[in-house]
Amino acid sequence: MDKPHNAILNQAQRIRNDEFYTQYADIQSEMNAYLDFDPDVFRDKTVLLPCDDLEGSNFTKFFAQNFELFGLKKLISTSYAVESKQYKKGYQPTLFETRSPLFDSDKTRTNGKIFTLTRVEAERTNINALKWDYLDGDGDFRSPEVTALRDEADIIVTNPPFSLFRAFLAWIIEGKKTFSIIGNINALTYREVFPLITSNKIWLGPSISSGDREFIIPEGIVDFERFTGIIRQNEKGENIYFQKVVGVRWFTNIEHGKRHQPLSLMTMADNVKFSKHKEIKGIGYRKYDNYDALEVPFTDAIPSDYDGAMGVPISFLDKYNPEQFEIIGATESEGRGFSNGLWHEESKTPQPLIDNNRIFKRIFIRYKGK
Ligand SMILES: C[S@@+](CC[C@H](N)C(=O)[O-])C[C@H]1O[C@@H](n2cnc3c(N)ncnc32)[C@H](O)[C@@H]1O
Repeated sequence: MDKPHNAILNQAQRIRNDEFYTQYADIQSEMNAYLDFDPDVFRDKTVLLPCDDLEGSNFTKFFAQNFELFGLKKLISTSYAVESKQYKKGYQPTLFETRSPLFDSDKTRTNGKIFTLTRVEAERTNINALKWDYLDGDGDFRSPEVTALRDEADIIVTNPPFSLFRAFLAWIIEGKKTFSIIGNINALTYREVFPLITSNKIWLGPSISSGDREFIIPEGIVDFERFTGIIRQNEKGENIYFQKVVGVRWFTNIEHGKRHQPLSLMTMADNVKFSKHKEIKGIGYRKYDNYDALEVPFTDAIPSDYDGAMGVPISFLDKYNPEQFEIIGATESEGRGFSNGLWHEESKTPQPLIDNNRIFKRIFIRYKGK
């Protein structure tokens, strides 16, 4: 009885997650980290913000406000038609739209919208031209018109719909774009994602590496019976609904300083003597029953003098420095063939085992040296 009910709830939650909106400060911290590494990262670039919401999105606001400062060539932001969304409740076109001569009472529900900001060629220094219009279709990122915008863009930044993360990343990779997008840490070991991580084609962004983040939920999609978030008032006294989401990460191929900082490590003997983890201190390290690798249950317990394969928690990727470590695979529980020959297939158990006890999923790494 319970299961189908839960399945329906989970499905409803998944759909709701597709409508979670990102806070300005979260966007700012991540983009600032890229700018710290390369102050010209956005200079003369066309930035596309797909899956956005022109009026309510902090992505559009952030890049529009910083257009001059970043030296952008063009900003394009697109939104998805309300009629194509799973949740259509509470939609109201803004005054900005209804007062515009372009306003169309049908298209406002059935078509996506596009917003562009460009440098006016004649007065390159500080004049921006803001334009908006309806898209021909509903603004689905996979549509030919949004795909053409992808192809025009140099950099893509967004928080894509949670349920379409795989398809969204595939769409970016196919377009060979520079990007920064929000996803869940669990996506790291998706079959389509993990090979991109091991080959250093994509990595985690620096600004979120633990805990949770609060996202804004439009009032129309709040499930008031189950809402567990926080309600705050804005300056106009309106309720704004925030929901904490765990496991959030930025996925990117934009360089940042954190991925070049080496982890400071102790030798195995020193870990056994001084580790703050009771599982290591005075005990040491074990090998798995069914993988040719050493179990290292904590990233800060990685020994500096072991040159074989080591299994570490997935959160290691928050600290991963490709000059210091090589990622050689993951447990077979994440995907068939992921362990690159480390698995003892005859064990028939894809989860890592120690003394026949199952351990949480691991990724396998090798220390390259300092
Ligand atoms: C997680 S929300 C994030 C919105 C915004 N980028 C932000 O973070 O503030 C994802 C947005 O993508 C829209 N969306 C859902 N499916 C889409 C699709 N197939 N193509 C484009 N956008 C879609 C949702 O309606 C929602 O507005």
